Amino acid sequence: MILKGKKALVTGASKGMGRAIAKALALEGVDLFLTGRDSDLLEKLKENLSKTGVRAAYKAADLGSEKELNDIFVDALEFLGDIDILINNAGIGIKGNVTEMAVTDWEQMFSVNLKAPFMLSRLAAREMIKKRSGYIINVGSGASQTPIAGFAGYCATKHGLLGFSESLGLELRDHNIKVSIILPGSTATHFGGASPENKLSARPGILRPEDIADSVLYLLKQSDVAWTSVMNLRPLNPKTSPLK
Ligand SMILES: NC(=O)c1ccc[n+]([C@@H]2O[C@H](COP(=O)([O-])OP(=O)(O)OC[C@H]3O[C@@H](n4cnc5c(N)ncnc54)[C@H](OP(=O)(O)O)[C@@H]3O)[C@@H](O)[C@H]2O)c1
Repeated sequence: MILKGKKALVTGASKGMGRAIAKALALEGVDLFLTGRDSDLLEKLKENLSKTGVRAAYKAADLGSEKELNDIFVDALEFLGDIDILINNAGIGIKGNVTEMAVTDWEQMFSVNLKAPFMLSRLAAREMIKKRSGYIINVGSGASQTPIAGFAGYCATKHGLLGFSESLGLELRDHNIKVSIILPGSTATHFGGASPENKLSARPGILRPEDIADSVLYLLKQSDVAWTSVMNLRPLNPKTSPLK
């Protein structure tokens, strides 16, 4: 895909991987519609991205709400005029053993991590099918394949997202639309509550958000005939500093 002039919707863009992905896409000349809940962070990012010469706008909204999900897509399409790339990146992980987990925590994780990608993918795919082109990239996790005690709910959503992503990819390939899922290992973001700085000082070799952004660009730039359905992205060695 030649990226310059393409139009992308990125969820979870206010921080972490989503912000890094948005920055990387802007540097490639992609116009962006950003979502997250923190409007101050989204406003700052929008201002920064606009300096690269691309068009950028945002909507602060809760992906846990079906109505807000629809509104995000309507506003994105109105602003961008079209959609070439959907990045389903937003996600939450609430720790808790199954015996103690509140049903509302379970439901919240399923809404943000699984229902939102389903809702946004179906809306985006309908537009992409009309023009026989587009790319949907989901952000899963190592937890899409690996069980983790104390994270059954999170693992269930991310295992589900892997199955969803691969099945959707099979549905859409005949429409010339690619769907991929990236499964990152530990990454220095705000995910789970600790600061990126604290995570890096404890485990200096974990991934940086920019590593996930690089992977997104790699997928988008792959040849038209090649389709990477699942990309496992691991830190080379989480405990040690990266090679110089
Ligand atoms: N960090 C890791 O070690 C790691 C490893 C594997 C996979 N992942 C996955 O990577 C993705 C990105 O996470 P991250 O590490 O970048 O975490 P992060 O820094 O905590 O960012 C999460 C993003 O998701 C958004 N978000 C969360 N709940 C939302 C909601 N209800 N409505 C709208 N937006 C919501 C947040 O927006 P606001 O804060 O503005 O609400 C934020 O922009 C997630 O899917 C996560 O599961 C992370």
